[in-house]
Amino acid sequence: MYSAKVLDHFRNPRNMGEMKDADGIGKVGNPECGDIMYIYIKVKDDRLEDIRFQTLGCGAAIATSSMITEMARGKTLDEALKITKKDVADALDGLPPIKMHCSNLAADGLRKAIEDYRKKQGK
Ligand code: FES
Repeated sequence: MYSAKVLDHFRNPRNMGEMKDADGIGKVGNPECGDIMYIYIKVKDDRLEDIRFQTLGCGAAIATSSMITEMARGKTLDEALKITKKDVADALDGLPPIKMHCSNLAADGLRKAIEDYRKKQGK
């Protein structure tokens, strides 16, 4: 079953919604289920000043993306790149094994958003 933290982030997702003026956008699809996620980032002085997400995904995908926005905000880009899907699952007090693949979306989406930002900066 889901932990209390997963249910909390599922019912009250943090930082959900589109960011119109994002500096970087990461879009990922989950090959295992076909679900989709967008991560939007705003960067200032090499730090994640703001981060938001949108997902057409399951409850675990909503909870993991909500959690990763809280974990990544304020971090430098290099620090944010070190957040793994296991870190996110641990911060949520675990996910049911059958739902572990759902946490790929959040971690991969954040990585892609940072890559997109760096590409736009010509780095
Ligand atoms: Fe698709 Fe969870 S079942 S992300």
